[in-house]
Amino acid sequence: MSHQTVIVLDFGGQYNQLIARRVRECGVYCEVKPCTTPLAELRAMDPIGVIFTGGPNSVYLDSSPKVDPAIFTWGVPILGICYGCQLMAHLLGGEVTAAQDDTAREYGRTETFYNTSCKLFRGLPEKGVSWMSHGDYMARVPAGFALTAHSDNCPNVAIADEARGFYGVQFHPEVDHTENGVAMLRNFLYEVCGARGDWSMGDYCRTAIAAVREKVGEGKVLLALSGGVDSSVCAALLAEAVGPQLTCVFVDHGLMRRDEGDEVEAAFSKWDIHFARVDAETRFLLKLAGVTEPEHKRKIIGEEFIRVFEEEARKIGRVDFLAQGTIYPDVIESGLGDAAVIKSHHNVGGLPDYVDFKEIIEPLRLLFKDEVRQLGRELGLPEYLVSRQPFPGPGLAIRIIGDITKEKADTLREADFIFRDEIARAGLEKVPDQYFAVLTNTRSVGVMGDGRTYDYTLALRAVTTADFMTADWARIPYDVLDRISTRIVNEVPGINRIVYDITSKPPATVEWE
Ligand code: XMP
Repeated sequence: MSHQTVIVLDFGGQYNQLIARRVRECGVYCEVKPCTTPLAELRAMDPIGVIFTGGPNSVYLDSSPKVDPAIFTWGVPILGICYGCQLMAHLLGGEVTAAQDDTAREYGRTETFYNTSCKLFRGLPEKGVSWMSHGDYMARVPAGFALTAHSDNCPNVAIADEARGFYGVQFHPEVDHTENGVAMLRNFLYEVCGARGDWSMGDYCRTAIAAVREKVGEGKVLLALSGGVDSSVCAALLAEAVGPQLTCVFVDHGLMRRDEGDEVEAAFSKWDIHFARVDAETRFLLKLAGVTEPEHKRKIIGEEFIRVFEEEARKIGRVDFLAQGTIYPDVIESGLGDAAVIKSHHNVGGLPDYVDFKEIIEPLRLLFKDEVRQLGRELGLPEYLVSRQPFPGPGLAIRIIGDITKEKADTLREADFIFRDEIARAGLEKVPDQYFAVLTNTRSVGVMGDGRTYDYTLALRAVTTADFMTADWARIPYDVLDRISTRIVNEVPGINRIVYDITSKPPATVEWE
C-alpha cells in the first residue's frame, strides 16, 4: 500500500528530523530531503505538502541555501518554518533583513498571539508561548500574504496566503516548548494538505525489517548491545529480521551503573540469540587514565568499543555487518550533515576512521527516543526494557568530570544507586525522564563529626523531556532531595556536598560532558 507523502525540505537547521518525527507522530509518512534535491525528483514523490525547515543562514546572502521558485507553481501546500518562512517570503517578493536592534531578534520563549481564523491556528487558543530562534525578520511580506500571528516585538510572526496554501511561521512549532506546536503541524497536514493519517509505527517496523533482510542477505551481524533502550530495540528488530545470523556483544567497560552488567546479562542470555559478555574494565580504564577532556574521553571509548567488537567478530568467524542502536539525536548532535557539533556521541562521531566491517547498519537512525520505545512495544519487548531511562554509551566516564579512576567510578556508582533508590521509594520513577549523579571534580571543605573533610561535590541531575533535544530540570520535591543528600553523604565516603542541577537544555546539555 502506498502512503500519502510529505516532504521536509532540509535547509540545514538543528530540528529538521524533529519536524519529520512530528509529521510521523501525526500519522503521515514523510521524508527529509536536502534542499539541493532536483525539483523533478521531489515532484516525482507526489507530495501532499512540503515543509521548509529552519537553517543557520540569512536568506539575503548569496551563499545561503535556496530552492527553485518553480516549487511555488506546483499547487502543493507549503509550510515554511523560521529560515523556511523567510526564504518563502524572500522568493515570493517580500523583504527580509537583519534585525537592526536586539528587540527584533528573538530567541527562546515568546508570548505569541494567533489569528485563529487562519487554518494553521484553527481551533487553538489565541495566545500561547512559542519558541523563537531568529536574528532576521520580514520587513515586508509578499503580496497576497496576510499576517496571522504577532508578538510584542514582532508584527509578523506568522504569514499566510490561504488561497495558494502557503504558510510561514518565524517560530519552531516542532519543539516541545511551543505550546500547541504539534496541533499547528497537524492543522497544516489535515486541514491544508488533506492528510488521511495512513501511516503508523507498524509500517515503519515492517519496512525496517524488510530493509535489514535485503541488506544483510546471508551475512552475519554483530550488534553492540548496551542493555539500554536503543540497543535492546535494535536487537529485537534484528532478531526478527535475521535472528540466527545475529550475535549480540555486550561490552562491560567497567563504567556501568551498579549491578547493570549482571542485569543485562540476565535479560539477554534468555533470548534465542547468540549473546557474549566481554569484561573489558581494565582495558578501558587503562586507555582513559589521565584523560580529562570530554571529547577525548568519548573518542577513546568509541574507538575501544570498535576494537573490542572487531576482536569478538574475529572469534565468531566472518562478520560482515556491525549493527548499532544509534538514534537520531545522537546523529544530529554529533554534527553530521550541516548542523553544528554539540558532542560526539560514542556510536557516531566517536567512530575511528578505519572500521573493520563491510558495513554499519543503524535501523533506528532516523527515530527519536519516544519513537524507539513505540517501536520496541510494536516488536513485543517487555515494558521494563522499553521504558528504561537512557544511559549513554560512554557510561560513567562522562559523569566523572576530570580524570577517571576505578575508585571514582565506584564512588559515583554508589551515590547514583542511592539517588535512584530514593527516587523509586518516593514513587517518582516516571517523573523525570532521566536522572543520575555526576561526580564533579570540585572538592570543598566540610565538617563531619568533629573533623574537617575535604571531599568531592556530587551533582544530582534530573530532567523532563520528550525527545532529549530540549529538556527542563525536574522539580523533585525538597524532602526527597533532602533524603537523597543525607543518605549519600552518610553512606558514600569521599562525598561531603550535594548540589542539584537546575539548568534546562539549552543552554546546558543533559549530561555534563
Ligand atoms: P545530551 O547530554 O547530549 O544528552 O543533552 C541527550 C541524551 O543522549 C544521551 N547521551 C548519549 N547516548 N551515547 C549515547 O548512546 C552517547 O555518547 C551519549 N551522550 C549523551 C544522554 O544520556 C541523554 O539521554
